[in-house]
Amino acid sequence: MTSTLRDAIYALRTARLGLERRRLDYGAETRERAERLAAVLPASVAELRGYEREYDDLEWFHDSYADRVAEIHDAGVATDTTHWRDGVTLYVVCRALEVETAVETGVLFGSFDAHVLAAMAENGGGTLHAVDLPGGPPGPFEYGHLIPDRCRDRWRLHRGDAREVLPELLERVGPLDLFLHDSDHRLPHMRFEYETARPRLEPGGVLASHDVRLSGLFDRFTDANGLQSCVVCDTGIARVPLGLSADPD
Ligand SMILES: C[S@@+](CC[C@H](N)C(=O)[O-])C[C@H]1O[C@@H](n2cnc3c(N)ncnc32)[C@H](O)[C@@H]1O
Repeated sequence: MTSTLRDAIYALRTARLGLERRRLDYGAETRERAERLAAVLPASVAELRGYEREYDDLEWFHDSYADRVAEIHDAGVATDTTHWRDGVTLYVVCRALEVETAVETGVLFGSFDAHVLAAMAENGGGTLHAVDLPGGPPGPFEYGHLIPDRCRDRWRLHRGDAREVLPELLERVGPLDLFLHDSDHRLPHMRFEYETARPRLEPGGVLASHDVRLSGLFDRFTDANGLQSCVVCDTGIARVPLGLSADPD
């Protein structure tokens, strides 16, 4: 398939997702977060709701996050920032699994990064390796502007195309508790990231992906690889069963 045709299909999918999002009841999705995650994670609904409440009460995080969101909005460049409700899903996952080693692609202002790192701070350990293209986000900001100072020392930024950076990075970092995709959502790239990360996940580890409603790829991939999965708002969460080895080959 030519790249022009691929780009046209991606543009159509993005437009369709925009329409679907208008119909999606995000309030109901958010209220069902704990039930949906409980079907995938080794935690009860009550425990997961406890992490949601803990997040609500995380004053040190909200004070910093709100200030930085305001700075980005004031500069008029907030497009494409991942919504905090998806960040909360990652916060809950990282608390429930006590995630220590995580790799993420697609940083921009770092909404997901901030939430994963906040959970690591509450866990008392962990490192998030984040990959984004050379350059930076729009406006007078650096990648990861939303990350509170308190958890920056757990964050390692790797600049480059995920296609080039990921294979060596994953080899170096070792078995992963979490891989999170939020970079280029065109299907060949998403498939590349899922396929590259899957063998690096620990048994019990999580493959998470933003914008899974763009196509059926996340569902097809998780089914084909025997991963239990759920979708909350715009984020897919899939877990490698404990019985499966890190590398299915
Ligand atoms: C939707 S934004 C990410 C939003 C972010 N995760 C958040 O929580 O706000 C997509 C990001 O992916 C990056 N990106 C796109 N293609 C990439 C690639 N091939 N490799 C690495 N990063 C890529 C872009 O530079 C952009 O910063």
